[in-house]
Amino acid sequence: MSLPKAVTIFEMGPRDGLQNECEIIATDDKVRYIDLLSETGLRWIEATSFVSPQAIPQLADAAEVYARIRKAPGVRYPVLVPNMKGYERARAAGADAIAVFTAASEEFTRRNIGMTIDQSLEIFRDVVAAAKRDGVWARGYISTAFGSPFGDVVTPAMVARLAFELMEMGCDELSIGDTIGVAVPGQIDELIPLLLWRVPIESVAMHFHDTRGTALTNVYAALRHGIAKFDSSAGGLGGCPYAPGATGNVGTEDVLYLLHQSGIETGVDLAKVRRASRFIAGVVGHGLTSKAFQAMEAADARAAVS
Ligand code: COA
Ligand code: ZN
Repeated sequence: MSLPKAVTIFEMGPRDGLQNECEIIATDDKVRYIDLLSETGLRWIEATSFVSPQAIPQLADAAEVYARIRKAPGVRYPVLVPNMKGYERARAAGADAIAVFTAASEEFTRRNIGMTIDQSLEIFRDVVAAAKRDGVWARGYISTAFGSPFGDVVTPAMVARLAFELMEMGCDELSIGDTIGVAVPGQIDELIPLLLWRVPIESVAMHFHDTRGTALTNVYAALRHGIAKFDSSAGGLGGCPYAPGATGNVGTEDVLYLLHQSGIETGVDLAKVRRASRFIAGVVGHGLTSKAFQAMEAADARAAVS
């Protein structure tokens, strides 16, 4: 067993995280949060999404957020787009990296974006073609890759078919999502070899939610297959508002702790990520679920009273 020597972290907090917060967060706070994350050594920060403001009111200020964040050298700020309208809005705001998103579950896709899976692929074919023409980097998400919140069956073969189609249309990278946090390592072991049959390993990222506490074990299972890109959310903020009961992404602090203690480099400063998490915890007004974040907070609280 040889684990990768270095791993790339793709930060989800400002998009997957914030889209699940009920109270509308001020644009100033979103900008400050992303600026703090830009100081951590993270090289990929999903900044916002140019979806319908009726679908996700929280991110209706996408253009303003994107315009105002400090674009740190060496950091990319992809944005989520559901269709050509979103792509055009993202480009008008200056975005040079986008992400399209479909799902392995037919029912989830219908509720999330009002389309069948095949319709979504048709729309993304045009979006990704436009991105290629414009020199824009493109990522393709496959949500609910390990289970649907609505009980319809999702198989590894269905995920692999979507992966091949997204790569064929020109995506630079795929992110395979356990949107509702149901996956266990055996499923990772089954899916990844199937994907790697046609998709280069450096184009595969894994995206785990920690709803049932299995996210970090799934990260480790994927590492053992040589996967070296993971999505995570500072503090563990997040979830998808269209997936009932979904909770946040695996915490960036948790993944960093696991990787760094295992001798795997990320280039990301854990203490600085914690600073960004602390800031956003104060804004959203509730605790954060990342265990590593909680442990650091508790250690500081103990130090303060002793
Ligand atoms: N940005 C802004 N407005 C958009 C838009 C976009 N990307 N796409 C569509 N709209 C607007 C249309 O202009 C139209 O506005 P109008 O009523 O003022 O004319 C309205 O939204 C409806 O457009 P329509 O094309 O019929 O879309 P829809 O209602 O079927 O919604 C999506 C389809 C994909 C746009 C919508 O479901 C969506 O944005 N989903 C995203 C969900 C999400 O982000 N989930 C979290 C990720 S896991
Ligand atoms: Zn997610």
